[in-house]
Amino acid sequence: MKKVTVSSPGKLMLYGEHAVVYGHPCIVTAIDQRMFLSAEKNDSGVFELNAPDVNVSNYSKPVSKIGNGEMPKGAQFVEIALKNVIRDKKISINGLKITTNSEFKSTFGFGSSSAATVCTVKALSELYSLGLSKKEIFDLAFKTVLEIQGKGSGFDVAAAIYGGTLYFVTGGKKIEELGLESLPLIIGYSGIKADTVTLIDKVSEKFKNNKKRLDEIYGEIEIIVENAKRALISKNFKQAGKLMNDNQTLLKELGVSIKKLDDMIESSLKAGAYGEKLSGAGGGDCMIALGPENKVLQIKKAIEKAGGQILEVMANAQGVRIEKL
Ligand code: MEV
Repeated sequence: MKKVTVSSPGKLMLYGEHAVVYGHPCIVTAIDQRMFLSAEKNDSGVFELNAPDVNVSNYSKPVSKIGNGEMPKGAQFVEIALKNVIRDKKISINGLKITTNSEFKSTFGFGSSSAATVCTVKALSELYSLGLSKKEIFDLAFKTVLEIQGKGSGFDVAAAIYGGTLYFVTGGKKIEELGLESLPLIIGYSGIKADTVTLIDKVSEKFKNNKKRLDEIYGEIEIIVENAKRALISKNFKQAGKLMNDNQTLLKELGVSIKKLDDMIESSLKAGAYGEKLSGAGGGDCMIALGPENKVLQIKKAIEKAGGQILEVMANAQGVRIEKL
């Protein structure tokens, strides 16, 4: 095989952000906006990357230098993933041309870096007949993300691989597909770009003299996640919404919400949503809401009135897949 195109979905955190970095569970859903990656083997001796969504065009270096020396920020996840697969699986590459294209902006917080990492590992698995299992793809992609970011639970990597809606424990200790049929989420984008590692550090700093309360909060979030898992499986969206509100109260105490997200949340609650919360690290990105079907339009309008942008995205999407051989 000379060329392959693969794709993987973006994600939205439903419950349990921050706590999941420290050994607790979370629930994440894959969304139907995808990252596409085409990889082509050749004999050029060169690795070449085009990733227009992250401003990388015609970046190239000798294959022997993959993972070493200078690399543009936008090339890091693909290049370090390549290095890790080459080393771990002991493959030799004569030349490789990779192009990525995303259906969503990297500023939404949908996990474009993790999706690109997962696509890279999957594409190599196909091109070099490695037959990697989902868990092997997870381990290689998560190792890559940790190498670059230093921190993170890997929930976004799991969503990109497994798809659907997952119950996930730190580092992939548990990855359970909930098998939901539908998930009527409303998504509002704040227009503000957030940086995950900065927010993880912000929480540690805020609670550096009160570890006891921080542990209590993470314990309370864990209970919310367990209850939310049951509520979602039994399609009790009213209860699932209430649990989002409870989770949001704790996220506010962690100090990761911001006024814009609070305004969007408050306004959708007034419009009749069952519940809502920020999704992800906080500090910007998106909020999510669950509401009765007959109130969806009012809820969307309310979010827009508070300055948010509605993203028409479906939850529970398919995980990484081959698009074209
Ligand atoms: C960021 O989207 C969610 C965090 O829990 C980080 C992570 O789990 O990797 C803050």
